[in-house]
Amino acid sequence: MPDGKRRIAVALDLAGRSDFLAAARLLRDEVGTFKLGLEAFTAHGPDLVRELVSLGAPVFLDLKLHDIPNTVGAAAAAAARTGASILNVHASGGRDMMRAAGERAREAAAAAGLPLPKVIAVTILTSLDAGSLREVGFAGSPEDAAVRLAALALASGLDGVVCSPREVASIRAACGAGFLLVVPGIRPGDSAAGDQKRIADPGSAIRAGADLLVVGRPILGAADPVGAARAIAAEITEALPGR
Ligand code: C5P
Repeated sequence: MPDGKRRIAVALDLAGRSDFLAAARLLRDEVGTFKLGLEAFTAHGPDLVRELVSLGAPVFLDLKLHDIPNTVGAAAAAAARTGASILNVHASGGRDMMRAAGERAREAAAAAGLPLPKVIAVTILTSLDAGSLREVGFAGSPEDAAVRLAALALASGLDGVVCSPREVASIRAACGAGFLLVVPGIRPGDSAAGDQKRIADPGSAIRAGADLLVVGRPILGAADPVGAARAIAAEITEALPGR
């Protein structure tokens, strides 16, 4: 698959099982990764993850786990057994929780004979701005908090982070070239921000150093989802040499 397509993770945020699988089949040759999030997982459970894995594209199981280390470790192990390629937790759950998630997920995948998943941490949700962060007790700017949490994820043995396009460059500088940067909050020039606040267009996110762009509504909400995915892939391809 060409690099432009490969760097798109489409967020299949659809509650209905048949709509969800129809969108996955429609987009299978257009994107590198399928992202299955809380809505679909809560409605349909791990069987839907396995069905998605069987379509052939890597699956990012976006459950954003956040609990005590023992509970998150066990949930991460169960998530890894579905065959998902990327799993995630909230970095604000702390060092021991992230360590447990990474270790237990890798052990479970190895025991099941599956490829080891990437375990990554959400830094600061892209829907939070400086005001909402202050409200929940985070001091400093969203960028400071995201860089601090990304460095903690790296120190806890995780493979990368989910971060806003605005923080990609400083996290890349702090955490190095091999650290996987998965970036939601992507809005091509003509699409609505919705609830996302810290956003950028696909080309800017790639030039800043993003590895994988998470795109939901700009593809699924488009009149022509395949055309929208292709336009984003073309923008990524154009931006790649400039980084
Ligand atoms: O529709 P949209 O492109 O905004 O979808 C973004 C997707 O990325 C959603 O599935 C959302 O849950 C997810 N996400 C996010 N911000 C994070 C982590 C994940 O928007 N920090």
